[in-house]
Amino acid sequence: MLKPFRFTSAMVLCVLLCFFAAHAQERYGIIPYPQQLVPQQGEFVITAKTKLVSPAQFKNEAAQLQALITQGLGKALPVAAKAGSGTIVFQQNDELAGEEDYTLKVSTTQLVITAKTATGAFRAVETIRQLMPPSIEGVKTGKLLKIAIPAVQITDHPVYAWRGMHLDVSRHFFSVSYLKKFIDVLALYKMNKLHLHLTDDQGWRIEIKKYPLLTEQGAWREFNNQDSACMVKAKSNPDMEIDKSHIIHKNGKTLYGGFYTQAQMKDVIAYATARHIEIIPEIDMPGHMMAAIKAYPYLSCAGGSTWGPLFTTPICPCKETTFTFAEDVFAEIAALFPSQYIHLGADEVEKSSWKNSPDCEAVMKANNLKTVEELQSYFVKRMEKFFNSKGKKLIGWDEILEGGISPTAVLMYWRSWVPDAPIKAAKNGNHVIMTPGNPLYFDGIPDRNSISNVYHFEPVPKGLTPEEAKYIIGAQANIWTEMIPSEKRADFMFMPRMTALAEVLWTHQSDFDGYEQRLKTQFKRLDKLNVHYRMPDLDGFTGENVLVGKTVLDIAKPMPDMTIRYTTDSTAPNVHSPELPKNYIIPGSGTIKLAGFSPSGSSTEIYTLNYRKQSFFKPVSVTGLQQGLQLDFYRGSYKSVTKLKEKADSIIHVNNAVIPDSLGDGGKPFGAKLTGYIDVPSTAIYSFFLTADDGANLYIDDEKVVDNDGWHAPLQKSGQIALEKGLHHFEIKFVEGGGGYTLKLEYRVNGGKIQLIPDEWLQSVK
Ligand code: ACM
Repeated sequence: MLKPFRFTSAMVLCVLLCFFAAHAQERYGIIPYPQQLVPQQGEFVITAKTKLVSPAQFKNEAAQLQALITQGLGKALPVAAKAGSGTIVFQQNDELAGEEDYTLKVSTTQLVITAKTATGAFRAVETIRQLMPPSIEGVKTGKLLKIAIPAVQITDHPVYAWRGMHLDVSRHFFSVSYLKKFIDVLALYKMNKLHLHLTDDQGWRIEIKKYPLLTEQGAWREFNNQDSACMVKAKSNPDMEIDKSHIIHKNGKTLYGGFYTQAQMKDVIAYATARHIEIIPEIDMPGHMMAAIKAYPYLSCAGGSTWGPLFTTPICPCKETTFTFAEDVFAEIAALFPSQYIHLGADEVEKSSWKNSPDCEAVMKANNLKTVEELQSYFVKRMEKFFNSKGKKLIGWDEILEGGISPTAVLMYWRSWVPDAPIKAAKNGNHVIMTPGNPLYFDGIPDRNSISNVYHFEPVPKGLTPEEAKYIIGAQANIWTEMIPSEKRADFMFMPRMTALAEVLWTHQSDFDGYEQRLKTQFKRLDKLNVHYRMPDLDGFTGENVLVGKTVLDIAKPMPDMTIRYTTDSTAPNVHSPELPKNYIIPGSGTIKLAGFSPSGSSTEIYTLNYRKQSFFKPVSVTGLQQGLQLDFYRGSYKSVTKLKEKADSIIHVNNAVIPDSLGDGGKPFGAKLTGYIDVPSTAIYSFFLTADDGANLYIDDEKVVDNDGWHAPLQKSGQIALEKGLHHFEIKFVEGGGGYTLKLEYRVNGGKIQLIPDEWLQSVK
């Protein structure tokens, strides 16, 4: 018998708890969320009459709080000597454990910050900032009469010491003002390291007084193939335009580039230091040195540098003149940057020029070095001694493990396809910073899963004891800028996913739902700060869509003040394009482009929806099937799934549309084909979401349903097909360009949840 529906007291409690939890996330929309937060009733209201009490050692941090208040109220608070009602009080307290620890007590009468060091006091200021209304941000004229802060008690500290962001300023250059804006965003989310990749083949970006040609020549280039690729993309996305402020005309040539003088860099460092962010300089060598070698050709073994199959000719570690150059450069770098670290790079070195060099033959013999990897290690170790002589620690990319690592070098892990590198290094007692390509290369095009992938990233790899895990000092996201030619594009690529990393590294208590709610409150602040973050994804369609009869497009806005605009002529929608009507009837086969815009001009990505007419595919009748798919493995390098060779090198059986971890060919490229049948439970239009790193296409009944081909970082593409209930031919073709790989297939039907294909749906011939 059907029971009449009645609210029980447990249900009422549950509803109330959910309401208060959601409300708390809004009231205390802090990212990263504090370790302990106890909500309190009421609020502390800052007015022109509120007084500030602060000890001398927190002068800078009190000034930063005053600057925020001034933005809101139009003037700074009067200073008082004694705490009391209506005061904001900074207190120094040696009893707190860590440098970055702080407590915050906000009652209706007082706001008290306690910290052991100025760094802790600064982190507290950023928490207070996030408790202030977003309207204080960017209000230079100070129009507010009061700033209300919700009462609360917070006890906070970070879990990881290294909470970093990297920015490659070589491939494309970024202005001093952008570096400061970037630092502001890092500070807001309690990130504490900025790794600047200052040099590479495509440009040398820091003044070195002893070698002026490094910047006179090395900072400028004619447009390269990456610039051209950006220009092509700029036709449909203005953020991909090359920043004109970095283009000059000289001797009849158009040149791209720029560099920071040491005086400019000092200013940036001071700005970061005031925000308790350490800037780590990277001068990448011995590889990635083409810009320098062009200016000083004697630096390579045979003179000059050209592109090899993958990388450029490196400098020569077998000539004393190379060490003189490197030490001179790093002496200036060590003097300029107060950081305790210098990053030597040492990644991706094309070592064939060393193999052919008589100088190297002599050095290898004299030092009993058997391989060019050991020769690289010889270079890195000599440089580490030099760094140490300047009081600095060496960081290198994980290739420094290959020819033997010193016990004191810090390893920066990036190659997802060498999963044991951080484990070996940590077991060896080296400090390790985790920056695995997936999910921490923020130059990878973000999709609807990127934030969740970052949020669920676990810095400590499996296989370490708790004692060994202490050597994993934190993590960092990297922004390589080959395809990031503008400040707006950089913002779009790193925000908001950096906020997920900030919470992983500071709080390290997984609460994705809470985080997502708090992120919504952050968007308002980021709008005021002119950060062109990637807005939440639009939903309710796939890339390739089918029309079966009358089809209506109805998109729920992920943010209430978002405007969705569209075009039907294949041009990119912009703020002037028409607004998408509710329940828009698809006019017929063709392309619709959509984008969502915030009032301040941030946008979603541009979505291209292709519609084609289709009738339901009839099922096939096959017997003698078993659960799972046949997987054909193809050794070799295939840039496209259409290029897989005829005959497989081996065949295995898999339970679902996955590429097992064990299949990888030691990081080498390969291809795979998964074949069988999909048994769909009802007649419907099925949407499929295929995530692949590198490329994959999905075919059902010989129709291409999802095209996610080509070599790329993990990326989701989607498509639809109309299927009658029953069995249909199923095939996925996959290519891996080398390194780490991923394949995931999900589906949705009738606007339901996106979910993994159940194992039972997939079958193949026995
Ligand atoms: C790197 O991505 N080459 C460190």
